[in-house]
Amino acid sequence: MYDRQDFIAVPPLSSSLTLGMSPAKTAVTVPFAHKTASFGVSNVLDLGSGKGYLARILANGFGLKVCCVDHNKDRIKSSLRIHSLIQQEQVLQTSLGPSGNLHAVAAPIEEWENFIDEATSFFRRKTRLGEKELDVAVVGLQLCGDMVYRVIDLVSGCNRAGIRLCAFLVSPCCLHKVVSLRSKAFRASEVCVENIYKDIQEYLVERGFRNVHLGYLNIGYYYIEATR
Ligand SMILES: C[S@@+](CC[C@H](N)C(=O)[O-])C[C@H]1O[C@@H](n2cnc3c(N)ncnc32)[C@H](O)[C@@H]1O
Repeated sequence: MYDRQDFIAVPPLSSSLTLGMSPAKTAVTVPFAHKTASFGVSNVLDLGSGKGYLARILANGFGLKVCCVDHNKDRIKSSLRIHSLIQQEQVLQTSLGPSGNLHAVAAPIEEWENFIDEATSFFRRKTRLGEKELDVAVVGLQLCGDMVYRVIDLVSGCNRAGIRLCAFLVSPCCLHKVVSLRSKAFRASEVCVENIYKDIQEYLVERGFRNVHLGYLNIGYYYIEATR
């Protein structure tokens, strides 16, 4: 596996952006947010967004347009509530109006066909009419077990006009919940930590992703990035 030299050193963010986050959550979310921003893509689809910790940093700290998707309605509501609290504070501090750059959909990611148009219209808001294709980064932080594979299947199967899912970043978690490996490089039953990370990378390549890279995030979590 990778050693700590791959750790992403990141500058601190305003404390309002990490409101309510445990030190451990902050330790993975902040470098993941920097990594997402480093793609230089303004639109982000955050799958399995949970309480929106990552989304609020991307929207309020990096000024990106973020669409959160999670099947847990309460977590989606919590994302929007905290986002609006942060925005109110920013209005007081900087006199800037709310940016309205966070959108949230309560849906299972498997219902991709139902929410991808909603996400696209959100990303398209306030863009120039002539701008034909929107570049979108698809991210997922601490995706449990097989969810990473499901996300790869959805992204690689998406050929929607008007958007280009050009960048991909995930950090897997709960590896004990991975039932089987998927790439041709391994037998399905060869599940162990090292193989899972290699298998995800192989699977991405098989699904047409390029520039696949595994890196160390923090406190035992790894990220895998790729482009399309
Ligand atoms: C470990 S949490 C990570 C949340 C968030 N990414 C973070 O880092 O704070 C995994 C999230 O994925 C969501 N989730 C799990 N399966 C899902 C599915 N099939 N569709 C949408 N969301 C799902 C859960 O509700 C949960 O919020």
